[in-house]
Amino acid sequence: MSVKILAIESSCDETSASVCVDGAILSNIIATQAVHEQYGGVVPELASRAHIQQIVPVVDTALNKAGVQLSELDAIAFTQAPGLIGSLLVGAQFAKSIALVQNIPLIAVHHMQAHVLANLIPEDRPEFPFLCLTVSGGHTQIVRCDSPTQLSILGETRDDAAGEAFDKSAKLLGLPYPGGPLVDKYAANGNPKAYAFPKPNIPDYDFSFSGLKTAILYFLQQNTKENPAFIEQNMADICASIQHRIITILLDKLKKAAQDTGISSLCIAGGVSANKGLRAAFEEMGRKEGWKTYIPAFQYCTDNAGMIAITAYHKFMANDFAPLTTTPSARAIW
Ligand code: KG4
Ligand code: ZN
Repeated sequence: MSVKILAIESSCDETSASVCVDGAILSNIIATQAVHEQYGGVVPELASRAHIQQIVPVVDTALNKAGVQLSELDAIAFTQAPGLIGSLLVGAQFAKSIALVQNIPLIAVHHMQAHVLANLIPEDRPEFPFLCLTVSGGHTQIVRCDSPTQLSILGETRDDAAGEAFDKSAKLLGLPYPGGPLVDKYAANGNPKAYAFPKPNIPDYDFSFSGLKTAILYFLQQNTKENPAFIEQNMADICASIQHRIITILLDKLKKAAQDTGISSLCIAGGVSANKGLRAAFEEMGRKEGWKTYIPAFQYCTDNAGMIAITAYHKFMANDFAPLTTTPSARAIW
């Protein structure tokens, strides 16, 4: 039997739709909302409105690209949590309408589970159990994954997420939102050892990034007082040093988790896993330690419906459906 699923992702500022047939992603259409750039962050009200405008064309394009008709679908999936509540509601209501009209089951997907399972999209997949470092704009977690539906959080951030650490650092450097990709770009030409930023002393597999943000603020205040052009003149070295510190904080904890659990299949996921420095350092760590490393393709790192679709496929196979009364939740219920 062939299983055709349409999945919708609308948790934040990306409207995305994907069609998955028997676990293969046939389309992954992503419309990014440019409207937020001028405000230096996502404006929830504007995000909900943009989702309403974009959801019909994005779904149409995803179905057309996959060559699948609405009437052929076996299920419809949507992101249930976590995210901006107004944004989540747009995707949830849209999915429920299709479920009702087509008389097909509804599948509710957890956004963070989906980031992890993005690693199951390619043919070269990690063996179970694997560990996943999930690094996004809202989360930083080390997740143990025993099967597509058995996931447990070993550690997470106690304050800012890794993506926030990138974005807030970028803001201090006068770079536009979202600053993560720009820090990545400048860092490519800089010296990661030019400036030494502090490393937090947090136990177990938890993370903290708020101290780093404060250290960067004081560092920039001090140096621009002495030389007002300090940032412009040293942008590449500053970005490389900040990025190096964020990467070492992340990978030291992942390494400890791998050593303690004896799990040697390692993945990264989430928007920050698009970072070139992190990808290279992660692969280097795997080579050195003899661990297998997996990284999703770029299009499946930042928010996308392909990861919702692959998760929905595994939920479909496990008969895990949601009633039409299911409501989205802004908070993560793991
Ligand atoms: O997973 P995601 O698309 O959305 C959330 O669920 O939060 O992650 C967005 C985050 C932002 O903080 C963005 O700056 C960061 O991922 N990001 C990057 C890069 N690309 C996206 N951070 C560093 N380097 C990148 N290349
Ligand atoms: Zn995300």
